[in-house]
Amino acid sequence: MPNAYISGTGFHVPPRVVTNDDLARDYGIDTTNEWIVQRTGIQERRFAEEGVGTSDLALPAAEMAIARAGIEKTDLDMIVFATLSPDHAFPGTGVYLQRKLGLLDGANPKFVPALDVRNQCSGFLYGLATATSIVQAGGARHILLVGAETHSAALDLTTRGRAVSSLFGDGAGAVIVSATEEDRGIRAWKLGSDGRFADHLCQKVWDTTKRPFIPQDARGIGQVDPSMMWASMDGRQVFRHAVERMIGVLMETCLKLGLTGNDIDLYAFHQANLRVNQYVQHQLGIPDEKVLHNIERYGNTTAATIPLLLAEAEQDGRLRRGMKVAMVAFGSGFTWGAAIADW
Ligand code: ACO
Repeated sequence: MPNAYISGTGFHVPPRVVTNDDLARDYGIDTTNEWIVQRTGIQERRFAEEGVGTSDLALPAAEMAIARAGIEKTDLDMIVFATLSPDHAFPGTGVYLQRKLGLLDGANPKFVPALDVRNQCSGFLYGLATATSIVQAGGARHILLVGAETHSAALDLTTRGRAVSSLFGDGAGAVIVSATEEDRGIRAWKLGSDGRFADHLCQKVWDTTKRPFIPQDARGIGQVDPSMMWASMDGRQVFRHAVERMIGVLMETCLKLGLTGNDIDLYAFHQANLRVNQYVQHQLGIPDEKVLHNIERYGNTTAATIPLLLAEAEQDGRLRRGMKVAMVAFGSGFTWGAAIADW
């Protein structure tokens, strides 16, 4: 059985920077930089321009990951795409990325499978577990795994929506999960979910128990109530469960390998809220230099946070060959996961 390792990483964020003060000044949201920084650590985020969707953000991230892996795009055997902000309701965003990558151009189109993953903030780790298992089973040698979000298209950027809209930003991260005979790669992963809390962090936009699934006015035009249109979140519940589950799933994954926290060289925690991660870090006694974060610059980019962290850290030399890396996430569902890799 081959090992599965991350052979390349890439990222892309849209150029437009939106600071906390911009949310107040440009959008008229009743908020302050102090409020947002104190509770979340977020100072600014990126918003894509209108006309740019999730597969557009994913494309440069994927191309960077392919280049850093030292492979050609035609070497890809599969695409796994994690997002909660797909280009469209269906089909999945993976097929749009396949097309934009040019895999279907020319005389020998690559009809590689494209799988979309719907596990929100845990989506990258659900995708990593899937890609790792397929590579280890011999089903693929190189899988492109992307986490990308265009949150700015679906945020209630008014005072009514401030508790959610001040947290999120746009961005994309990508990795190549490759087969190797070398003694390295993803050593263990663990995933979990608890659907009792499905309604505590959700965006219901449409409801298939209704006929039709979006109410219509007399002219047959769809009418989405703001309570359905925008994401809703019970922030305190999310905070409480996030710290509990992230600590639990990390410990369980370490235990699988007979490791303690001291054996880990670098932690890539999902970037939901700096205060969540600081709580986890302090509970486990993890020193600052072992923890990656970029939430202060990008906000919460959901499925993109972990691959974005990895790609930036690899670029600036903090993430190096031979390091033991722990990745941990928690999000809507509730869902959670962790993975440990020898880089
Ligand atoms: N600016 C100013 N005031 C605000 C803002 C804002 N951006 N957002 C909310 N408020 C107000 C509320 O309206 C409320 O006012 P009220 O008392 O007059 O009704 C007050 O601040 C307190 O609101 P709470 O929601 O109770 O604030 P809390 O202290 O819980 O902080 C926060 C909210 C930051 C979301 C916190 O609950 C949290 O961090 N939870 C974790 C959730 C999280 O990280 N989610 C990320 C997405 S999910 C994921 O990726 C896992």
